[in-house]
Amino acid sequence: MSSLLQSPEWQKLNALMLSDGTQHLRDLFAENPQRFEQFSRCEMDMLFDFSRQRVTQPILQGLIKLAEASGLKAQIKAMFSGEVINTTERRAVLHTALRADPNCKILVNGQDVMPAVRANLDHMKTFVEGVHSGRLLGATGQKFTDVVNIGIGGSDLGIVMVNEALARYRQSGITLHCVSNIDGSQLSDVLSKVNAATTLFVVCSKTFTTLETLSNAKIARQWLTDQLGAEAVSHHFVAVSTNDKAMDAFKISPENRFTMWEWVGGRYSLWSSVGLSIALSVGMTHFEELLRGARIMDEHLQQAPFENNYPVLMGMLGIWNRNFLELDSLAVLPYDQRLHRFAAYLQQLDMESNGKRVTHSGESVECDTGAVVWGEPGSNAQHSFFQLLHQGTARAALDFIAPVNASSEYQGQQNLALANCLGQAQAFALGYTEQEVEQELNARGMDESTIARLIPHKLHPGNCPSSILLFPKLDPLTLGKLIALYEHKVFVQSVVWGINAFDQWGVELGKKLADTLVPVVEKPETAPAALQGLMGYVKRWRQ
Ligand code: F6P
Repeated sequence: MSSLLQSPEWQKLNALMLSDGTQHLRDLFAENPQRFEQFSRCEMDMLFDFSRQRVTQPILQGLIKLAEASGLKAQIKAMFSGEVINTTERRAVLHTALRADPNCKILVNGQDVMPAVRANLDHMKTFVEGVHSGRLLGATGQKFTDVVNIGIGGSDLGIVMVNEALARYRQSGITLHCVSNIDGSQLSDVLSKVNAATTLFVVCSKTFTTLETLSNAKIARQWLTDQLGAEAVSHHFVAVSTNDKAMDAFKISPENRFTMWEWVGGRYSLWSSVGLSIALSVGMTHFEELLRGARIMDEHLQQAPFENNYPVLMGMLGIWNRNFLELDSLAVLPYDQRLHRFAAYLQQLDMESNGKRVTHSGESVECDTGAVVWGEPGSNAQHSFFQLLHQGTARAALDFIAPVNASSEYQGQQNLALANCLGQAQAFALGYTEQEVEQELNARGMDESTIARLIPHKLHPGNCPSSILLFPKLDPLTLGKLIALYEHKVFVQSVVWGINAFDQWGVELGKKLADTLVPVVEKPETAPAALQGLMGYVKRWRQ
């Protein structure tokens, strides 16, 4: 196997790290007034400003060369054309087919998947229209007012995130609730709010074997049956899954089943019938706009030259930050409260995809892979963890995301948000020097010894790399582009690192152990020696 780290492209970047990579962003801006023009792109109604990333033209070109040398072009083609790129599970990866031009043909094992994709979308459309119009009613003949999505991971995070992001586009008369967690609190809170006669449950699970989802769904079914009788289940429960047998066992009636395919990974599935709850909440037209937005990004990934290609640029800048600047985390900071679950959504997308330590062929990776992704809406973050990022010893790369126009009726407030976003990006890049601190404190009339005492505390080192994604407004089309941009960024990085972004074996062990411990928690006296101490407290404190 050829070595990534020994490749001429990687070596060249190593050399550039020692020269260009040591320059402070303050100096890079001072030396080059054209920095914004050279290190920003504006396509698809989205500005990608990466002028505050710690790169120079030679570094950017070096990163593009590395992407080319990794065979990325061929891998992009392979993904879109349905080749088996999820090598460990021997599956095609075709979430892009779910938002593709409906008239195109995409073959998996020689069979065109598009007729099934179209049929599924039609099924969703008919169902959503039926619920909204009142053609489909609950068991007592009442219109549905509440939808409860029961799912976890990829069967929850995208739904929650999009439903929050598109709150302004929600259908009136219907409220979406999402239950994912296994501990019962979410379920209890939701069930105490809704009326059985007007509530529709969507059990969303690709495998239909997930403990959290099935146990919550069973309680919900019992709750409904207790109030409306067992016959009501067929009116009030629908399911999204690939697993017909399990849906049979759960007694989901055939007309209430929405299909999924093995070639759609859970964390890439909000475009499929997993998006049913989204469509029920914001309407099918907005859901289709979301798909259209993603399609625009898909076409861009396939067609744009790498130097203008958003996912390629974003992915490669991420590699620069991770592998050369050795930043092991990425903070995602939207300046729009409606994106308050975006970082949580990206955590699964990025960390479940690129949290890998072996390559496709099973050999240890030669360099670090996926970063830790985290974040909060920017204004809140400024008043909590920004202190550490500005002056602490831990460092991170940052993605600022902001719409120009408010996602509320208060444009003045969004203007303030934007000013804060830009102010923070500048502060992180440029820092605050000893000289600047001294000038400020002098101007405030402080004496020399106080100034000397305060200087080290008021210094900001800066040089913290960030990108800004700016767009006119947060609408379904833009959100579709934004999500697909991050999906493809993750893919680009996985190709360079030589890892499989589409499996997730690492989540299995804990699940397996939990299964064996269910009876132990019920009967602490049966605990194995290693857990006896801890289980003693469970026994003592359980009421
Ligand atoms: O946490 C592991 C995982 O398999 C995720 O990849 C997936 O999105 C989630 O569980 C839920 O799986 P399912 O949709 O099959 O219930």
